[in-house]
Amino acid sequence: MKIPIEKPVLVTSALPYVNGECHIGHLRTYVPADIYVRMFRKMGYDVTFVSGSDTHGTPIVLSAEAQGITPGEVIVKYHAHFKQVFKELHVDFDYYGQTDSETNHRRTEDIVMKLIENGHVYKGEIKQAFCTTCGRFLPDRYVEGTCPYCGESARGDECDQGCGKHLEPGEIMEPRCKICGNEAEFKDQEHFFLKLSSFTDFLLDYLDTLGGTLNARNYAKEWVKKELLDWCITRNLEWGVKFPGREDLVVYVWVDAPIGYIAFTEELLAARSGDENAWRRFWKEDKATVVHFIGTDIIYHHCIFWPAMLKGAGYSLPAAVVASGMVKIDGKKFSKSRGDVVWVTEFLERFHPDTLRYYLVAQSSHTKELDFSWQSFAMRVNKELVAIFGNLVYRVLSFASKNFGVVPDGDIEEEVFEAIKKTKEEVISAVEDYEFKKFVDAVMKLADFGNSYFQREEPWHLIKQGDQGRERCGAIVKNVLQLIKAICILLEAVMPAKMEEAWQQLGMENDVHTVQLDELLVPIESGIALKEPGRLFEKVEL
Ligand code: 2FM
Ligand code: ZN
Repeated sequence: MKIPIEKPVLVTSALPYVNGECHIGHLRTYVPADIYVRMFRKMGYDVTFVSGSDTHGTPIVLSAEAQGITPGEVIVKYHAHFKQVFKELHVDFDYYGQTDSETNHRRTEDIVMKLIENGHVYKGEIKQAFCTTCGRFLPDRYVEGTCPYCGESARGDECDQGCGKHLEPGEIMEPRCKICGNEAEFKDQEHFFLKLSSFTDFLLDYLDTLGGTLNARNYAKEWVKKELLDWCITRNLEWGVKFPGREDLVVYVWVDAPIGYIAFTEELLAARSGDENAWRRFWKEDKATVVHFIGTDIIYHHCIFWPAMLKGAGYSLPAAVVASGMVKIDGKKFSKSRGDVVWVTEFLERFHPDTLRYYLVAQSSHTKELDFSWQSFAMRVNKELVAIFGNLVYRVLSFASKNFGVVPDGDIEEEVFEAIKKTKEEVISAVEDYEFKKFVDAVMKLADFGNSYFQREEPWHLIKQGDQGRERCGAIVKNVLQLIKAICILLEAVMPAKMEEAWQQLGMENDVHTVQLDELLVPIESGIALKEPGRLFEKVEL
């Protein structure tokens, strides 16, 4: 999907449940989204980037129970933690909110009221899992059992170990209470439902035109074609956004969580412009392009529930859903109890955040699973960042500083311009296709070219060959510095801190974070003083 440059773009990144610490599995969505935003800005788009903490639902309530604190305390603790992690990783949201905000409560009530007024909601009775030992109903993650669709183990509202489908209350088979482990019974209970089935035709048409990655569109289409069950949108919990007119019910977390995207836009734009209605351009008037970055585990929610809610309440629809593959650890699913997990704060105690950002996109293509291992991390850093790019910068800058001290005179050769131009085209098309691996691979190829060009021209011989030799040597150096400059501009999106460092070594005075792609082909200025070169990356020893 080609995104029109004249419209503002809103990029969102899925909201993490703030029920525990951030692990590297989370980052597969945030880092590529941040890279996408940085690149789109360099391409001249007007981009706003929002996300926030998902603060409701059973993930939060269960964590609070386990820690013996209140849900409010849980969200304060982990909201601060996630914000800090994003800061350290340079995932630069324009706004990072949280779904328990007053704006989100209000926006959720408004959308639910509109859905009711438009005749999309009805009251019904369902059989809900009930634990006689604990004496309570078991919403969502309070219950575990078997998925009726694929037979794998599932938890309450989702088949997390198998087909990934959302499960309606009462659908899970052989339900057991998560707290005491006893078999649950079923009891009748009154709830509210969205008539999802009546959105079938709308969804099929919508999904046909939806941009983003094909995995999202195709997965959602399959489920819509099979049959849509109406969607239970209330839960018996104290914690959450109250269902209008019912003190005993809150809305299901998957109602108010995506509405957070709207609430955060409201909060950000009102604070920026003072205009309380500025958010409407994005969500009511169809004047912007909304792109959601999510993980494949929540395609169902973003491509089925969310557009149905927006349509039913008279809001505008997102243009694209980009779904990243899940992260495994040494071939295994994440598991805190088995220790198959890599915590981001621990990672950052040992390694530079940019190496993780690079690894997350370079290791596998965006929609595919990423199998994390320390070996593959070390390999990417040592063989690519250290040996190809880091080596190019250090070797050339050391030679240039020693022999010239400044960017020497000379013309940029056609061969070099062509290589940059080709990389630029490859990178733009990769980013537009959400192929972040192709993006970094193309840039590494350019760095490779820089190394072989330098090697081929043997400037260390030329420098010893009188004035003419020195002049030619200077031109060679300038050409490689041009390549380094181009690489810095492109890789800033992936490794913002490291590229700032390299940019300074090049003696550049403008801000690498805001340089546009047009600069790639602007010849580097001769005569600028080069700074003391230092090695950009350290080898990873396992
Ligand atoms: O699956 C999750 O982790 C959810 N907290 C994602 C919510 S994204 C959005 F819709 F709010
Ligand atoms: Zn399943």
